[in-house]
Amino acid sequence: MLEKNQNEKLDIETRIAIPKEWKKLRDFRLNLLDDESGNSYVATSRQIREIKKRTDEQWKDILFGKDKFSVIALKDSEVVGMGRAEKYKGIWHLFNLGVKDEFRRARIGAKLTAIRLNEIKIRGGKEVYIFVSKRNVPSLKNAESFGFRRDNTFWGRVRNRMILDDVNNPITTKRIEEVLNEK
Ligand SMILES: CC(C)(COP(=O)(O)OP(=O)(O)OC[C@H]1O[C@@H](n2cnc3c(N)ncnc32)[C@H](O)[C@@H]1OP(=O)(O)O)[C@@H](O)C(=O)NCCC(=O)NCCS
Repeated sequence: MLEKNQNEKLDIETRIAIPKEWKKLRDFRLNLLDDESGNSYVATSRQIREIKKRTDEQWKDILFGKDKFSVIALKDSEVVGMGRAEKYKGIWHLFNLGVKDEFRRARIGAKLTAIRLNEIKIRGGKEVYIFVSKRNVPSLKNAESFGFRRDNTFWGRVRNRMILDDVNNPITTKRIEEVLNEK
């Protein structure tokens, strides 16, 4: 892990991914799942088994299908971070944020979140959900910094849900701009 705010020196490219990058994103996600397999708050072992069984067509759809998009962080041509967004039943969801361990704490995760929320604004979205375990402090803090609040209404799988009521609210807008404008 890096010291806080070290990305100026790292020269990382962060942007919306293009469909021909699907294999790079797939490999990054699978590697991260293996690295994080002890962390049940990222995916359960059953979910990991299901993810590993996906066909190429399923991967392409999950990463770039209708009402879905992915973001990528690159150091030269190596993927060092990714995230996904998906509109489900009319509500945008953020999924699969991950940054390579050696590159954490350099605002890459924040940037990949800001890019996704900004794109959701552009696409006319409003409410946004994210699923974050209470134990996942880095991810929780990152979500809170964009204005997400925990939803305590539900039980079961959805107990980890955090909600942003309106992606256009002033706090979220300010945080997105701050992060996107950072060098
Ligand atoms: C969560 C994750 C993507 C954060 O990525 P990152 O690039 O290290 O995060 P950033 O440097 O952009 O930090 C953004 C914000 O997150 C919070 N944060 C990040 N790491 C943190 C840590 N170790 N402790 C506390 N807060 C942390 C801070 O609020 C930070 O904002 P700040 O820099 O203004 O303090 C990364 O830790 C990761 O890949 N974790 C494993 C996978 C995972 O848990 N994904 C999320 C599933 S919901």
